[in-house]
Amino acid sequence: SIYDLVIKNGFVCTASDFYPADIGICEGKITTIAGSIDSELSKEVIDAEGGVITPGGVDAHVHVEEPVKLMGDVIDTMSTVTRSAVAGGTTTVIAFASQDANLKGPKALSDSVGKTIESYEKETLYCDYGLHLILVKLEQETLNACGALDEQLCNLYKDQGVSSVKIFMTYPGLQMSDYSILNTMYATRKNGITTMVHAENGDIVKWMTDSLENQGLIEPYYHGVSRPTIVEGEATNRAIALSTMMNTPVLFVHVSSPEAVEAIRKAQTKGIKVFAETCPQYVVLSHEDTKCHHGDTDRFEGAKNICSPPLREDQVKECLWRAMDNGTFTIVSSDHCAYLYSSEHRGKHNAFDQGKGGKFRYIPNGMPGVCTRMPLGFDHGYLNKNISSLMKFVELHCTNPAKLYGCYPQKGALLPGSSDADILIWYPNKDERGRTKINNEMLHHSCDYTPYEGLEVKNWPRYTLVRGKIVFKEGRLISGHASGQYIKRKAISDPTDKWVNEWRPAYNLSK
Ligand code: URP
Ligand code: ZN
Ligand code: ZN
Ligand code: ZN
Repeated sequence: SIYDLVIKNGFVCTASDFYPADIGICEGKITTIAGSIDSELSKEVIDAEGGVITPGGVDAHVHVEEPVKLMGDVIDTMSTVTRSAVAGGTTTVIAFASQDANLKGPKALSDSVGKTIESYEKETLYCDYGLHLILVKLEQETLNACGALDEQLCNLYKDQGVSSVKIFMTYPGLQMSDYSILNTMYATRKNGITTMVHAENGDIVKWMTDSLENQGLIEPYYHGVSRPTIVEGEATNRAIALSTMMNTPVLFVHVSSPEAVEAIRKAQTKGIKVFAETCPQYVVLSHEDTKCHHGDTDRFEGAKNICSPPLREDQVKECLWRAMDNGTFTIVSSDHCAYLYSSEHRGKHNAFDQGKGGKFRYIPNGMPGVCTRMPLGFDHGYLNKNISSLMKFVELHCTNPAKLYGCYPQKGALLPGSSDADILIWYPNKDERGRTKINNEMLHHSCDYTPYEGLEVKNWPRYTLVRGKIVFKEGRLISGHASGQYIKRKAISDPTDKWVNEWRPAYNLSK
């Protein structure tokens, strides 16, 4: 037969089109999309029963356990994070590798990532993955740091196909000064690497935290009070200024503040290469969810929903939905970053460890979400009319992340001859089988809770295919088909030679 698998009777939905068609798959690739494909030509046939067919989700922001800790022990491994991903319709994740401080020299970053990939090769992976690099504080605040970083990034891209790095404007130990950010952007621009920015003003956060603690306001809820939307707005404006100086593309991760959205929109209108990401938690949950619930039996439970930037007031959601629909946001990612909550582990919980008394300052930031991102986008986004078309949902959750991070059209698309057969078949809309009440067990991550426990969504992926193999079907994982691989990514940036004044970099970019 010509095909290993044919999917019949579905509505194909991409970032640009929506139409009834059959899909033919051969050796893990999409080879044909046609009005009708004869079942006889295929070894296997799936009947989509009139359901929507989309590319598999691309989640460009997930955290897995790594040697370098952000704020405690992230509980998911690459194996469990990819397992959870496919159970919710995501077929590519891009996680973070951080730099191994013991390695020095031009290959320091490349070797850090190489070792990380080697360790993941031993695990069972349910889908493909890529890696961003987290840049920790640069050693020197001198121009010398530029040259060294330039060489390291060049090797990182050449050896490992890493085309994006993340920097932080907050968090003790990670917060970069403006000087170091300029150094970083000088080197990323030269290598065509996209700079991902965690934009919060770390000094304001520290001052507010000290001040709240001083007044005894230490409960999880005050984490949000310590970082109002202006904290994100200020840092976003500043990072836009720095990226304009260096004329290099930036992507703002986990944007949740109207001030930040406004700054990003304005910069985009001026033609500055500014991209932005938001996450489902910022449009589904709110600051109220960091108060204790369950009748005040557990005054710490709000800790489950602590993340940075924090969950916002309800009225912010409308602004974020609009920015998704009007293109200000380029992508929607989960920022999956899971820590155990339950009391058996509470001794190990950072906020209670070593007599820290449950202060919000020590609560690890982040929550799980890799499994729920696609269904929440489909339901709260598209079906609830916050995202105006299903094509826009696909663009934000599948296609744009692949384009932005250099793995399109292998990922995030359904292009015959080019795309991997990473495919979702959804239940036909209004089909009761798709109606799903979220509970933690069905998410298949290692975390002991989900912020969405009990929440009902109207659809859930019925089939998840990775490279043409069914890895998830009607609520069940098919582990025997797990064969995820590392994917090298391409640099996508193409900066112009426009500068703010007569200053020029010491290098020329040969196009
Ligand atoms: O609170 C968050 N977002 N935790 C994950 C780490 C990060 O800053 O992305
Ligand atoms: Zn961050
Ligand atoms: Zn409570
Ligand atoms: Zn993150």
